Amino acid sequence: MSAKKQKTAKKNRFPGYLAAIVVIMSLYSLLPAAFLSRWPEAPKSENNQAAVSRLADNSGEYFSFIVFGDNHAGLLFNDSAAMKLIWHMNREDRFRKTPIDFVLSVGDVTLDGAEGHFKSYKKLQGLIKFPVVAAIGNHDNRELFEKYVGDEEFSFVDRNSYFIILDNEVGELSEDQFRWFEEELEKGREYDHIFVALHKPPFDVYQQDWYNMDNQPWAYRFRKLCAKYDVRMVFAGHRHMFKHEVFDGVDYIVTGGGGMLLEIPESEGGYHHYVRVLVNNDYVTFEVRKVSVPFWQFITYYMWKEALYWARNFYGIGYMFGKNTKIEPLRVKDLNNKEYWTQGIFS
Ligand SMILES: [Fe+2]
Repeated sequence: MSAKKQKTAKKNRFPGYLAAIVVIMSLYSLLPAAFLSRWPEAPKSENNQAAVSRLADNSGEYFSFIVFGDNHAGLLFNDSAAMKLIWHMNREDRFRKTPIDFVLSVGDVTLDGAEGHFKSYKKLQGLIKFPVVAAIGNHDNRELFEKYVGDEEFSFVDRNSYFIILDNEVGELSEDQFRWFEEELEKGREYDHIFVALHKPPFDVYQQDWYNMDNQPWAYRFRKLCAKYDVRMVFAGHRHMFKHEVFDGVDYIVTGGGGMLLEIPESEGGYHHYVRVLVNNDYVTFEVRKVSVPFWQFITYYMWKEALYWARNFYGIGYMFGKNTKIEPLRVKDLNNKEYWTQGIFS
């Protein structure tokens, strides 16, 4: 073989090694999810009611809890990311300085509500070493949710805090629900903190989205009620991202990055994460725990998602040819009329 050919052969070997490393790392990162089916399901009796009863004897006013959402169990892609998240959640008590009382899911525990999806969720729940409390999401079949997860709307006490879990999977709250909610808020006044969880957020999490809540009458009313009763934090999911907003001094946290494939750019909140909340007497703080995706997902999807958003930035010469030059009319008549979005609240 000539010296030139030998040199080329040597050069060609490098990508081969690289490819082998990528394949090995991908398979390794896929291993936990590949064996999920062998993991025992958490028993059906380990439901919301059981989790709450395990908190009853807690004492002391220094503790933590974890919030996550939208794991959408039942698809290998989602379960793999959720399992990585759970690994990190389970390590939250490693310094043995703060009790982690429970994990709260803000709904969409299943991919689309099938029984098999609930079984997958129960396997994931079985991996979480803390009690798990979950709200219902719009992808969770109601009947099966009751069978596998338990009650949809309830309240509970943990130490100095009052927790209210609401069912708004349809997208709003009915009159009866508002009545019950206000009664619960009234009871919560006896405690240092009130925390509220519901699946769909009462505001626009991502303004450029098709999903708009900000001008919905129920959302406005909900936020005003939370302000009136000095709610400490409201947790929601639904949009698969992280977002923190403050309305009338109340913190609103959207934590929908619990496993489901994410489509929003990472720089705008589209990353997998969970939230750890720390209660210290009358103080409450929170931290977002960002967890990188399993390597095989990075290679097959997330790397390309970010690359596409990057490439999209080159898109923009269309106006030179008359595109995007017309102001579009609003879809809803009177959208800017205050009466539209506070309809029925002040009358
Ligand atoms: Fe979701």
